[in-house]
Amino acid sequence: MVFGTLTPMNTTKKRLLTGLQSSGDLHIGNYFGALKPFVDMYEEYDSFLMVADYHALTSLHDPEAMRRNTINVVKDYLAAGVDPKKCIIFRQSDNQDHMELAWVLNCLVTVPFLELGHAYKDKVVKGMEANAGLFTYPMLQAADITLYGTDIVPVGEDQRQHLEYTREAVGKFNRAFGDTLKEPETNILESVGIVPGTDGGKMSKSKGNIIPLFGTAKELEKAVMSIVTDSAGDRPEHVYAIHRLLKSEVELVPLYEENKGRYGDLKKILIDDLETFIAPMREKRSQITEDDVKAVLESGASQAKAVSSSTLRKVRTAIGMTL
Ligand code: ADP
Ligand code: TRP
Repeated sequence: MVFGTLTPMNTTKKRLLTGLQSSGDLHIGNYFGALKPFVDMYEEYDSFLMVADYHALTSLHDPEAMRRNTINVVKDYLAAGVDPKKCIIFRQSDNQDHMELAWVLNCLVTVPFLELGHAYKDKVVKGMEANAGLFTYPMLQAADITLYGTDIVPVGEDQRQHLEYTREAVGKFNRAFGDTLKEPETNILESVGIVPGTDGGKMSKSKGNIIPLFGTAKELEKAVMSIVTDSAGDRPEHVYAIHRLLKSEVELVPLYEENKGRYGDLKKILIDDLETFIAPMREKRSQITEDDVKAVLESGASQAKAVSSSTLRKVRTAIGMTL
């Protein structure tokens, strides 16, 4: 596969940015919650698609897995239909501006404010040890977003709070130092909500409950067959919720009515529908090489830096770090 360089940014367009962590294989929750909304809208904007590897480091301490996941996530982006000629695809750790702005923002927000963060709070409630990176995670995300003057951030429902944190941090910065950073809007598709995993909880890379986006047909089948169906009503709600991502209610209601109580049959239909949907992307993904990924990230790094450094210059001037 051959990738060219991006056409110059059209600065009159609004900016769109999202990121996914390189903490494991992407799953259909990631796809329908964040990646597909991005793919559907990115050509109308000046768009940025990031691999959030510094965020992944809050939970992943395995260098070989980090490297592999990063390559895989970029392959997934390309296979899902993101054209690197029309968008800046980059890796967070290739641009240290993120670290610097995150530090500045950390110096503005309070400890009690960060203590309310879901990811951090959940760990503490479960009696688990949270690292300091997890604690300050929302300010790194705020830096990711504001460095690029982002207007819109497509994310899944579980990220609502992080976007509120970003807006809050922007407000604090601008009140303290004058209007410098832009407050982003969130783009959350209500129709997707939180995609359930095979155990009925939120599908998440770290929970072992995923339906992999680019798994083999066999892996897909195994994951779907393991979806829990002990729901109270006639309809296997978790199976239905995933099916709804692929088909309309009008198509599904009679199908589920006809197959009432036959959970195995409904799962088989879901497997076929998922396979029909994923197979072409899987085929495209098989053509993408590690060298393609490296070329995309190399060009993305310099293009991202060119945009972020101008924001960071303004930030440094505003806080008195220029002489
Ligand atoms: P994970 O929770 O699997 O580690 P990330 O935190 O990297 O995934 O999330 C990447 C994007 O995918 C975010 O925008 C997030 O909101 C979205 N996302 C993750 N899990 C789900 C889900 N189960 N349903 C809908 N969107 C999701
Ligand atoms: N925290 C996001 C998640 O877990 C990933 C992320 C990092 C992100 N930086 C971002 C998403 C900036 C949108 C914008 O899903």
